Amino acid sequence: PVLVVDFGAQYAQLIARRVREAKVYSEIVPHTWSVEKMLAKDPAAIILSGGPSSVYAAGAPFVDPALFEAGVPVLGICYGFQAMAKALGGDVAQTGQREYGGTEVEVCAAGVLLAGTPENQTTWMSHGDSVHRAPDGFEVLATSAGSPVAAFEDSARRLFGVQWHPEVKHSAHGQAVLEKFLYEGAGLAPDWTPGNVIADQVDAIRAQVGDARVICGLSGGVDSSVAAALVQKAVGDQLTCVFVDHGLLRQGEVEQVERDFVAATGVRLVVLDEKERFLTALAGHTDPETKRKIIGREFIRAFEDAARRVVEDAGESGGEVKYLVQGTLYPDVVESGGGEGAANIKSHHNVGGLPDDLQFDLVEPLRTLFKDEVRAVGRELGVPEVIVARQPFPGPGLGIRIIGEVTAERLEILRAADAIARDELTRAGLDDDIWQCPVVLLADVRSVGVQGDGRTYGHPIVLRPVSSEDAMTADWTRLPYDVLQVISTRITNEVRDVNRVVLDVTSKPPATIEWE
Ligand code: XMP
Repeated sequence: PVLVVDFGAQYAQLIARRVREAKVYSEIVPHTWSVEKMLAKDPAAIILSGGPSSVYAAGAPFVDPALFEAGVPVLGICYGFQAMAKALGGDVAQTGQREYGGTEVEVCAAGVLLAGTPENQTTWMSHGDSVHRAPDGFEVLATSAGSPVAAFEDSARRLFGVQWHPEVKHSAHGQAVLEKFLYEGAGLAPDWTPGNVIADQVDAIRAQVGDARVICGLSGGVDSSVAAALVQKAVGDQLTCVFVDHGLLRQGEVEQVERDFVAATGVRLVVLDEKERFLTALAGHTDPETKRKIIGREFIRAFEDAARRVVEDAGESGGEVKYLVQGTLYPDVVESGGGEGAANIKSHHNVGGLPDDLQFDLVEPLRTLFKDEVRAVGRELGVPEVIVARQPFPGPGLGIRIIGEVTAERLEILRAADAIARDELTRAGLDDDIWQCPVVLLADVRSVGVQGDGRTYGHPIVLRPVSSEDAMTADWTRLPYDVLQVISTRITNEVRDVNRVVLDVTSKPPATIEWE
């Protein structure tokens, strides 16, 4: 892999993504790793990321000069560039002159790194210190007003550096610079494609699982579906997928999984109708956390029953289920410490939060991938577009979108309203503009309306369209008024007991995306 050494800012993930966009596989490692440990991964190249520190700050992360002696091509970016300059004997000065945001640089020698990019280019910078003298053997490639040395290289030793952030889209030729480093500086080929990812993962899954039985909790979401399709491709009938229909799903979701997904992938699917179990358990409860906990607990019980049933059905030909497939993604892995240590199963996981004491080993074929890469792999595997392109939907489903007690009747109302909103958003071509649009029923609120000739006393439906990159923060989406108009008219006309539609215009923070 190409290792991206994380110096503690938010840039490392972005760099890793850009390298992968150049079709070269990359992994993020913490800067606390020793050079030995990095080299043990047999890196094809190393990129030192930017970071919040000054090389002069007490305790500033340090780069061991041994890293540059190993013969591995290295690109230093921003802080990584300065740390590299310092480690190799160049001068880094604290000028107090910050360069922040769009910054013009002038190319004085194109070298390998800047070949083919214009003499004057806009780059995105964010730094206080600057490199005043390049280390011996390095050629200065570019300068800016605040950075006498804004880029350098020693092409013989395959060492490169830029003061700016090529991974940021505001750097006009950023991706070109990264690609020059990868393809020409490091001599790598752009061959990390969804097809190759699949081939590698299929081998890895077969090696891990052998001839044991595997189970996968399917939620209908992107991650669990693509993970299941990969495992299916690897070990075929050793896999059983379990879909727990908790009755909190949206219209058509069970059918979508039963019909489209099975047809496309050929997985063996067990659908459990557990609607009564969940409704009974939820009866009388209105507190959001209590509702979430009940749904999580019942999900686990249903899943354990299913696992037992799979074993029974397999009879003597089967044996125990040893492995559980999880759709863990790379950002989860990075956040739990750069791929080190145990898998972290989040309580918010899309299969509903599986307990730590579940007696399975995990198969996690997506743990090296970002969400959009999972989608690309899914498409390559032939997972239907309706599933691959799906917006996020929470594990507890409509249960946390009915504000108040969950009942069968209220679920029916919300399901109908939700189907209309989704239908109209899709028709208006807005699915790619919104991250998701929860539709919420304020079941304990009533307001007065007039419909036909009479007074009504019905419930409001809330539309909560949001735009987001990662659901950590979000803004409310400015949907066109005419689309809102159609949704409102249709919901109040077609859904019984609803006489009002309101729009949630709150960002996150302060509100969360879901209402509960
Ligand atoms: P909040 O409401 O915390 O939601 O702003 C952030 C994102 O997470 C989704 N979400 C969940 N997903 N299980 C899930 O799989 C959950 O319990 C859960 N709760 C919220 C939510 O839809 C949004 O995308």
